[in-house]
Amino acid sequence: MEVAADYSGWVKANPRECNSMIDVDGSIPMDLNGVLYRNGPAVFERDGISKPYYVDGDGMVHSLSFSQGRLHYRSCFVRTKKFIEESNLKKFLYDTWTFKAPADEFDSLQKPKYESQAFISAVYHHGKLFAFDESFTPYELDPETLETITPTKLGVSDVGVSFAAHSKIHTFQNQWIHFGLKHDKEPLVYFTILDGAGKCLNSFCEKLPRAVYVHDFFTTENYIVMSLHPAFSNMKPVLSGRQSFLESLDWRSNEGNLIAVYHKSGCDKPIYVEADTQWWLHAVNGWETSDEELVLSFVGHDSPDHILGENPMYKRVLTGNAQGPYTPGRVRQYRINLKARTIKDEILLDGNYEFPTLHPDRVGCKSQFVFMVKGSVDKPFWNTLVQANLATGSSQEYCFGEGVYCSEPIIAPRQRGIGFGKKEAEGYLMSLIYDGRANKYSVAILQGGHIEDGPIALVNINNEIPLTFHGCWRGLNEVNYQAGSL
Ligand SMILES: [Fe+2]
Repeated sequence: MEVAADYSGWVKANPRECNSMIDVDGSIPMDLNGVLYRNGPAVFERDGISKPYYVDGDGMVHSLSFSQGRLHYRSCFVRTKKFIEESNLKKFLYDTWTFKAPADEFDSLQKPKYESQAFISAVYHHGKLFAFDESFTPYELDPETLETITPTKLGVSDVGVSFAAHSKIHTFQNQWIHFGLKHDKEPLVYFTILDGAGKCLNSFCEKLPRAVYVHDFFTTENYIVMSLHPAFSNMKPVLSGRQSFLESLDWRSNEGNLIAVYHKSGCDKPIYVEADTQWWLHAVNGWETSDEELVLSFVGHDSPDHILGENPMYKRVLTGNAQGPYTPGRVRQYRINLKARTIKDEILLDGNYEFPTLHPDRVGCKSQFVFMVKGSVDKPFWNTLVQANLATGSSQEYCFGEGVYCSEPIIAPRQRGIGFGKKEAEGYLMSLIYDGRANKYSVAILQGGHIEDGPIALVNINNEIPLTFHGCWRGLNEVNYQAGSL
């Protein structure tokens, strides 16, 4: 009997912790050797209580280790303070993005109760693996077993330092760059720059000119750039337990974006440039063309109607009644003149895109290719993988069909280092897939540069793998990629 195609098996997945070899059919390339890490939310129900939004889940990290055509799969919950306490008592104790935990006798003493869910991104750097949430302390995990080692402030001595889920590894500068927001009495942003060995090179804090929530940032050779869209947060009702954080965000579409440009030294005053209103979650890339000009690309929406508001589409996915249309995510590019403080904004790709990724050695440098997912604005999630050439506007796509959903694509590059030029898109592109028609979970492997040919391997994984947000590729024996010059 044909199973109705839906995404409930993706957003309500109930994954087990696994550690096993996967049966493969010989289609995995012998020269794909390394580990794909993914992080995403799980555990939406405890003690008969269901959570309302998939951003309320607890982090589970998955690793797919490829070696000579074989595949080993692991999955492990991040043992956060929250996960351990709630698992022990078998009930939800902590508030999350939209969820308020049931009241208990301690509510008057400590409310609201927020702790890291460690569910958004997994980053491998200087031989270590980390799980990040937004504005909480990251957790270090064992990169082989995925067992949780410890919460960590990454060696930064400032106890107030904050880390967002998104960071950037700038290979050629040997830098791992972080930002983190803090909405206390005044809105602050922390910047932390680590070297290739994980040693702190610089950490500084700036007062933000507006109290807004942003999810990602840009880096270039000399600058860190924030695009402060008008998603204003009001922490008073959040801290008093009257509103969730997501409910507190106030989208003021007539206030525009404010681009804030910070020199990495932390010594110069920020440069501010005004831009038209664009909601955005994810940067594509950024680079400098001269001392004066920055080029920044990102996925932008005219409105956050799919995420924010009374009853946005992505909140309704857990109740099964989500439908669009919502405003599409187009690939846009800013050209910012720092001297004149002017901005040129253009649409590079019209469509509905999300989760852009790059060759890892092109972050912060001039790049040509971006990998993304693409979908319809009428329905949640995405069923198409895309490799786009932003220099020419051309793209290759592969659509998995109605009722099949794909996640952030990650490239295992054929070549790392300098001088690969036009080979930037070469390698194997991987995406976790959920087939809602057959209720099957798999990893799809496609050939970079030949995306329209479809998967060269589609390997079933015997676990319910929830929607995952972000991950990374760790090449074989890659402890710390040695930087070179461009
Ligand atoms: Fe993200």
